[in-house]
Amino acid sequence: MTTYSTDQTQPATPIELVTAQALKAWRAEQSASALAWLDSQGFEAKPAQFAWLPNDEGQPSRVIAAWDGQQNLSAIGHLAMLLPAATYRLDTPLEELALAGWGLGAYRYTRFRPADRQPATLLLDEATAQRVNQLVDAVNLGRDLINAPAGHMLPSQMETVFREVGRRFGAEVSVCTGDALLEAGHRTIHAVGRASIDAPRLLDMTWGDAAHPKVTLVGKGVCFDSGGLDLKPASNMRLMKKDMGGAATALGLAQLVMARALPVRLRLLIPAVENAVSGNAYRPGDVIETYHGTTVEIDNTDAEGRLVLCDALALACEESPDLIVDFATLTGSARSAVGTEIGAMFATNDDTAQAIYRGGVTQDDAVWRMPLHDAYDYMLKSQVADAVNSPSSPYAGAITAALFLKKFVNVEDWVHFDIMAFNTRARPGRPEGGEAMGLRAVFAHLESRYGAA
Ligand code: BES
Ligand code: MN
Ligand code: ZN
Repeated sequence: MTTYSTDQTQPATPIELVTAQALKAWRAEQSASALAWLDSQGFEAKPAQFAWLPNDEGQPSRVIAAWDGQQNLSAIGHLAMLLPAATYRLDTPLEELALAGWGLGAYRYTRFRPADRQPATLLLDEATAQRVNQLVDAVNLGRDLINAPAGHMLPSQMETVFREVGRRFGAEVSVCTGDALLEAGHRTIHAVGRASIDAPRLLDMTWGDAAHPKVTLVGKGVCFDSGGLDLKPASNMRLMKKDMGGAATALGLAQLVMARALPVRLRLLIPAVENAVSGNAYRPGDVIETYHGTTVEIDNTDAEGRLVLCDALALACEESPDLIVDFATLTGSARSAVGTEIGAMFATNDDTAQAIYRGGVTQDDAVWRMPLHDAYDYMLKSQVADAVNSPSSPYAGAITAALFLKKFVNVEDWVHFDIMAFNTRARPGRPEGGEAMGLRAVFAHLESRYGAA
């Protein structure tokens, strides 16, 4: 990580943060020469403004930057790519999340082209740098996976990254691939992924002390969603490399849980598939017997996420974990409901929902609870099977998708996230592109629920 340094012997330019309200009082303490510099740079403490100030020799020696006073990603999330690439230190103390904004804002996807510029470096003490880097690395791992084009991030490549993360933390990894899925009973994962040149698979990671509470994360890993035979129109297909955003978020979150050594027995399940078109593709009207044992009639091959998730969720429930959280880019409907910048959350436990909502507030990771309204279950009725995968009604698509998943869940505490996993515009700490939405909100909850005092 080059965006943070812990080398305290390095010269570092101090940065002071000032709010618009405090500007007047702050100016009263500045020298006439400093004020002249400020005014020549037009500094009024407006959002994202910064200015250089001189030392006694008249050389630029410190930075003043506007701040809204909040401990969130907007505090310094724009500065790493705004200030000249050098080393800085903060004169204004900030909390960990706000400090993480520096590194999160400096993120660029550089696999195919280097970034336009080097980020500026922020000097931190050793302990803070370690925690901040753990958080930034987790989110940036998710972003890298989402930003990778599908041609470079098919199920086998997801498996490689999955194994590498598991190896680093001494986790146990097992993978069920191709026809082995049929033998294991994971017929929905196989059906969705079998038309791809890259075989479908279920990635399974276990980590931690078996005596600790069991927490299971599940992520939708649709590496590309063409829609299948119910092919998406071009504009809807364009961004579908991100349809493994749930898996990317779950893997980033798992990495953070392991890096912070939370006292949980963690399991991570990722059904990794490509929803492709070929002669052997699954079809509208097909009926599949799920791992759970019930049958699903395929109404629409574009409602594939809930199919790969239903087998993973049913498997997750077998060991009755204390908590299951899944992440999925599941429906366009969730985006209609809360837009692209808020995670739609469904939960069976009110306390957990409230805690994760609060986690989202404190971690600048907005989530909003939506209802698991059982009365809408009628929309999932099939003439020939236990359920259809795609509802008969155009309304409440995110809710009916969540209700579909709920049929396969039999633990008391289950949380489902329907996320965008992509920043459609750049904001401080949030460059345009892949985003691990909901990761910090859930981690905050896990840390307070299971963390050692
Ligand atoms: N991956 C899509 C959902 C999606 C689309 C998420 C755009 C974020 C942005 C999912 O597999 C899908 O195609 N869902 C359909 C379901 C429908 C066929 C019941 C949808 O939401 O339209
Ligand atoms: Mn789809
Ligand atoms: Zn999809």
